[in-house]
Amino acid sequence: MATTHAYISAVGHYVPEKVLSNADLEKMVNTSDEWIRSRTGISERHILDNGATSDLAAGALKAALANRGMDASELDIIIVATVTPDMFFPSTACLVQQKTGAKNAFCFDLSAACSGFVYALVVGAQFIDGGRYKKIAVIGSDKMSSIIDYTERNTCILFGDAGAAVILEPTGEEGVGIIDHRLYSDGSGSKFLNMTGGGSLNPPSHETVDKKMHYIFQDGKAVFKVAVIGMADVSYEIMQRNNLTGNDVDWLVPHQANLRIIDACAERMELDKSKVMINIDRFGNTTAATIPLCISEWWQKGKIKKGQNLVLASFGAGYTWGAVLVKWGIEAPKEIKS
Ligand code: UT7
Repeated sequence: MATTHAYISAVGHYVPEKVLSNADLEKMVNTSDEWIRSRTGISERHILDNGATSDLAAGALKAALANRGMDASELDIIIVATVTPDMFFPSTACLVQQKTGAKNAFCFDLSAACSGFVYALVVGAQFIDGGRYKKIAVIGSDKMSSIIDYTERNTCILFGDAGAAVILEPTGEEGVGIIDHRLYSDGSGSKFLNMTGGGSLNPPSHETVDKKMHYIFQDGKAVFKVAVIGMADVSYEIMQRNNLTGNDVDWLVPHQANLRIIDACAERMELDKSKVMINIDRFGNTTAATIPLCISEWWQKGKIKKGQNLVLASFGAGYTWGAVLVKWGIEAPKEIKS
């Protein structure tokens, strides 16, 4: 099995200040704090009032660059994973370049919904592996509030806004970095989770607006069933093919869509719950940002130690899903944030 020498050299995140709590949502739709917490694990989520996905992404990238002590002009590539780009074109990554001053980077977006960060991390690692590029920003960023119908209780309780970034660089250290990955797609899942308005299939019109086709649609029950199996299976697969047991995995970093899906995944991996990164209670589902947001928070708190094994696992629209095995390669920060 090929191993790459790309490693995560820095992390950073940006979360808007405004909080939308379950109590706030109780006043907007027919729901309850009890229902939301017991069915999803979410207590509150953050909302960006002014600005767009590129602002979340640029904030996250600036934080990661500061943590690395790197100037934006040193970056070779910026990849932004998102389903809520500022606009169809230019890419959000180009806008992030402009907002951060990363004038030497070439930039593009990647669309894989909730698996966007995991896909982008693998793509970024290949550029390092190929030997031509040395400093790559991989960002997961979504302003989900821009595609949510806040009169629809099935979906509006689930999502929040955030951006989180990592920087990939080559490492000389043997066995450190992005060790292995397994990515999957199944386009037959497209009808269960989508946003059908605004693209070439259904260009924007009064009708697409009236039919609420510019909002996210999710058949929650259908997605739940395959997400539980998909995320658990791929996490187990990545452990098996790297001869790891639950004891060898230090952290599961799961996509934060539903606490019950996360629990099922940890159970399949025979992992103690103390080894699972969970922040869905505070941020909800931030789509492409969930996984790097967890990593960034846990690193800031000094909880990830150099040499630890992380399994990143995701499931999202497409369907897309996958897992990445990472051997952590950086020390805890000098200043621990509680
Ligand atoms: O991130 C990308 C991948 N996405 C996922 O992995 C999400 C997967 N799906 C889920 O997480 C869950 O399916 C949801 C959290 C979306 C829904 O939970 P559920 O346990 O599957 O609930 P349900 O959709 O089966 O609805 C159960 C009941 C229904 O009422 P009836 O028909 O039983 O009378 C819903 O109308 O709960 C009702 N309901 C609500 N009640 C209060 C749906 N939404 C709400 C709500 N508040 N917000």
